[in-house]
Parts: sequence; structure tokens; C-alpha cells
Amino acid sequence: MKRSIIIDWCAACALALLMAGCSQKPQVSAAELPDQGSPGAALVTGYCTECHGAPSPSSHTAREWAGVVERMQNWRVTKGFGAIPERDLRPLLDYLKSHGRAE
Ligand code: HEC
Repeated sequence: MKRSIIIDWCAACALALLMAGCSQKPQVSAAELPDQGSPGAALVTGYCTECHGAPSPSSHTAREWAGVVERMQNWRVTKGFGAIPERDLRPLLDYLKSHGRAE
């Protein structure tokens, strides 16, 4: 798969732009995740930090999170990390949603 270098570059660039242009902090250190020690925080640390810092749950509304996580699933598969299994996906999404930004 030859396209991956260009795609990686674009993705990194998009991410940098996004992080720089956003007043809301999109990434936090794992230690700053809300509800420390909960299974949800552990899932985010386990499944969401291979490619960027821990995403802040308050960077999206509950409604937005489903779509973002679906996109991240695709990234995981594309990058060879493998999809998040269904049994972990539900509590992971519930965690992000319950700490999501108000609509
Ligand atoms: C395999 C690599 C990879 C993993 C694992 C990954 N991401 Fe991402 N993430 C990316 C890339 C690449 C971008 C920038 C492009 C984009 O937004 O799709 C990104 C961007 C983001 C953004 C900023 C863009 C936005 O829509 O707000 C958030 C938030 C995010 N990821 C959340 C998550 C969550 C939650 C998980 C775990 C379920 C996760 N990521 C796991 C690769 C990954």
C-alpha cells in the first residue's frame, strides 16, 4: 500500500491544525481523563492513545462521539491495530458520551 505515506502526512497535518486552531483542549494527558480509575478511562487509554494523546471527552457532544469513534475504528483497522471489539466499544462510547460536552 503506497498511499499510506501521503495519507499519514495529511492526517498528521490535519490533526496539528485542528489542535492548534481549537480553543477547547482536544487532547489531555491520560492522567487528566475524567473519572480516573473507571473502566471507561482505562478503555480510552488502551484504545485511543496509539496515534495521538488521550482525546478529551469534553471535546465532543454525546451525539458527535458515535461518529468520531466510528472514524477512529477505521483508522485503527487501516493502521493495523485492529478494530475495538464490541464488548469494549459500548462502554468506551458510553464513557465518552457521559463526559461529553453539553449539546
Ligand atoms: C490508528 C490511529 C488512531 C487511533 C488508535 C485513534 N485515533 Fe483518533 N485520530 C487519528 C487520526 C489520524 C486523526 C486525525 C484525522 C481525523 O480526525 O480523522 C485523529 C483525530 C482524532 C480526534 C480529533 C478530530 C475530531 O474529530 O475531533 C479525536 C477527538 C480523536 N481522534 C479521538 C479518538 C478516540 C476517542 C479514539 C479511541 C476510540 C482514537 N481517536 C483512536 C488516529 C487514531
